[in-house]
Amino acid sequence: MEYIYPKIKQITDNEEVSFHVPGHKNGKILLKYEEEYAKELYKIDTTEINGTDDLHDAKEIIMHSQIRASKLYNSYKTYFLVNGTTVGILASIMSQFKENDKVVVQRDCHKAVINGLILSGARPIYIYPKIDKRTNLSLGIESLKLEEILKKDKDIKGVIISSPSYYGIAQDISKISKLTDEYKKILIVDEAHGAHSILDDKLPKTSLEQGADISIMSIHKTLPSFTQSSVLHINNKEDITKKIDIDRLCMYLKMLQSSSPSYLLMTSLDKAFKIAEQKGKFLMSKLLKEIKKIKEYFKNNNVFEFLDNDDMTKIYIKTKINSLNGKKMHDILEGRYNIIPEFHDEKGVLLVTSIGNDEKDFSKLKRALEEIIKEYDIKNKSKIEVKASKTNQKTKKIKINQNDKIKESKEYNEDELKKEKNIFNILDDNLVLTPKEAFNTKSKQIIKLKDSVNQISNEFIIPYPPGIPILVPGERITKAIIDYVISNKDTINILGLKDDTNTNIEVSNS
Ligand SMILES: Cc1ncc(COP(=O)(O)O)c(C=O)c1O
Repeated sequence: MEYIYPKIKQITDNEEVSFHVPGHKNGKILLKYEEEYAKELYKIDTTEINGTDDLHDAKEIIMHSQIRASKLYNSYKTYFLVNGTTVGILASIMSQFKENDKVVVQRDCHKAVINGLILSGARPIYIYPKIDKRTNLSLGIESLKLEEILKKDKDIKGVIISSPSYYGIAQDISKISKLTDEYKKILIVDEAHGAHSILDDKLPKTSLEQGADISIMSIHKTLPSFTQSSVLHINNKEDITKKIDIDRLCMYLKMLQSSSPSYLLMTSLDKAFKIAEQKGKFLMSKLLKEIKKIKEYFKNNNVFEFLDNDDMTKIYIKTKINSLNGKKMHDILEGRYNIIPEFHDEKGVLLVTSIGNDEKDFSKLKRALEEIIKEYDIKNKSKIEVKASKTNQKTKKIKINQNDKIKESKEYNEDELKKEKNIFNILDDNLVLTPKEAFNTKSKQIIKLKDSVNQISNEFIIPYPPGIPILVPGERITKAIIDYVISNKDTINILGLKDDTNTNIEVSNS
């Protein structure tokens, strides 16, 4: 019996349009520009033999490829990673911070950052994101808040932020790096979603350009390399070798990564950078035109809207009507049109596009969205008609007033939005223990999640994707978190608890 390949083959053979990671879009871009490579992948699954170099001591071909990547991003050094951005985040935190070192951490971070805190024993000072009033999405941290924190506590060693977000919202990192430089703190940026930014000036500037000391990028997410292939960059700024302990960082990369780094991954990084270097700008400009066109086309409709974000390659389609939530929209796109989004949240779906997508993908998306509008606008109209006929029995012929339609469909009521909890506005200042203290506590018990308000969690609760924990070890559990898990259990994949029925949670007795 073979378990994995037949199912993967069935799914991928059947898939028409990939609007999810990895960036090579089912190999389409590789088959087009690197056909021989794409067809003979198994042959290049080699190891460290004469001439293949060694990732952990790169002196030949891997070194040259890393240097090319370094030039593309204008870094001081760029290291290839074969265990994703995850390992780059872990190695950065573990190498630059020691037990009990204080680190400011953007709380809506990926779980890898919290895992780095557990492994290093560093003490987080969480900084909570500013929330956009219209969309309830995270806008990242406020530099004024960061400055207050840095002014108050001279012992802080560094700052960890994430930008651009999964939703394509970018932070003004230059303001943040100005502060970290002034206060002599290390700035680490989880830039998992920003590797493609170098391909067009309309995209956000890279964090290196804006002064970050270390940046980690998932090349596999938005450029055409294989899943798990990422890079870690060190900034090319003055005195960087005094600020960042590069030797220690390399030691951790050696410790945490496999001693048999995959040549499939490393060659795919090399290919991705070759494509980016030779055709990236041309392909990105075409992609951005397609995205602009589709956004323009659907500018005025009653059913959904597009998020106006900084990284336009992330298309977040937010529904405007109650009868169509994120999961329903995801199911329709996938089930009816074979268009596979990256993920859905409570309100919408996120499409991750890349230079691997082509015009055909967008014309299929356009057709699907047109049909969704037709279907749901009719439902919207009939609801208004029923409502109107109840309130005005005498009126036989009911005219649909355009303003009514908009009122019915829009959900920008600020009070209502505040009530709606999502992964960003649910986060609250509830740190009691460090993640490591909670993770290692000996005095613990397992209780029902529904009865756990005010207890200190030893576990994570992580809606996945996007992988941003709404509860991390060491935080006090709130009613809002419990309500979120219960009310979203059928529509959102929630990970983190050891009890996979999400009924019980381990808490600290302290
Ligand atoms: C913001 C963020 N950081 C880090 C990661 C981890 O990246 P990787 O999958 O390359 O390990 C992810 C993955 O989704 C992410 O969304």
